[in-house]
Amino acid sequence: MTKEISKTPASQPVKVITTREQLNLPAEVKHYKSGKVRESFLLPNPKSLLIVTTDRISAYDVVMNEGVPWKGKILNGMSLHNFKLTEDIIPNHVIAANIFGSFPHSENHFDILNGRSAVVMRAEPILFECVVRGYLYGSGLKEYMKTAEVCGIPLPPGLIKASKLESPIFTPATKSETGHDENIPYGEMEKRLGDKKLAAQLRETSLAIYQRIADYALKNGIIVADTKLEFGLVGKKLILIDELVTPDSSRFWPLTTYKPGQDQPSFDKQFLRDWLDKEKWNQMPPPPTLPEEVIATTSAKYVEAYKLLTGRMLRA
Ligand SMILES: Nc1ncnc2c1ncn2[C@@H]1O[C@H](COP(=O)(O)OP(=O)(O)OP(=O)(O)O)[C@@H](O)[C@H]1O
Ligand SMILES: [Mg+2]
Repeated sequence: MTKEISKTPASQPVKVITTREQLNLPAEVKHYKSGKVRESFLLPNPKSLLIVTTDRISAYDVVMNEGVPWKGKILNGMSLHNFKLTEDIIPNHVIAANIFGSFPHSENHFDILNGRSAVVMRAEPILFECVVRGYLYGSGLKEYMKTAEVCGIPLPPGLIKASKLESPIFTPATKSETGHDENIPYGEMEKRLGDKKLAAQLRETSLAIYQRIADYALKNGIIVADTKLEFGLVGKKLILIDELVTPDSSRFWPLTTYKPGQDQPSFDKQFLRDWLDKEKWNQMPPPPTLPEEVIATTSAKYVEAYKLLTGRMLRA
């Protein structure tokens, strides 16, 4: 485990939170769900949830032992920023960024929760990852090299690593509770959902959200190469849930160094993945111990992405 207090790239001490116990929430705030990165809790208002973004980091679907300073606050802040930016396209789950009054004596928990939590609408998650790709990379590139298609979408010949696609494509994946997610064709998602209208709504909304945020990011010098969205239903109403266009759910590349045909330096966890690949880890638990330098560089990349994308500074 990392030290409780870690030096940040901005040389400010920040508390690193990786476990539910560290949150030290009162007994009336019952635990709801643990994700790889987020912990959620039931609030006295049964239609809402408290979502806390920890500093945990996962790679290849395995959570590392160490936390990354600032990461939880960055993911939470970026998601709030992007939810706001797209709220005219589709409603999202955010009720309040401030937890004040959401449970008795919430003011006693500001120190730990502030900046890394939100009160959200409790939704029934739709169990598909809605992936949009504007560029060819990662599993999309691998599929294209084998079949000239990605998730059943035929692409023109001659594309190379990191090529910009003529227009962004929607490439859904199953959201598996255990193990790795699997890319599937749109028709398969339609079939499994059993609702053509809902499938079309997921596709059109995902593409519109990607375009809106990618355009915004590009003006700030960041390419959003791809991203993964999650949706949920509140009654019959479709809303966006979870996180929105963060370095965990997206590939961010600096515009200045973008050059197709090669690996792209990135603001996301690609740096960690590259280090893990070099270690020849078999991508099964337990993960290797991350050196301080890998943690610090990863943290610095997240901090940089936050500043560029939102134009704001972080506060401890
Ligand atoms: N508004 C919401 N209502 C109900 N569940 C939600 C809501 N927002 C997010 N969730 C769920 O809470 C969990 C958040 O945890 P986390 O982001 O750590 O996810 P994960 O699913 O383990 O990882 P990944 O995001 O990489 O798939 C997810 O299962 C997500 O679907
Ligand atoms: Mg998630």
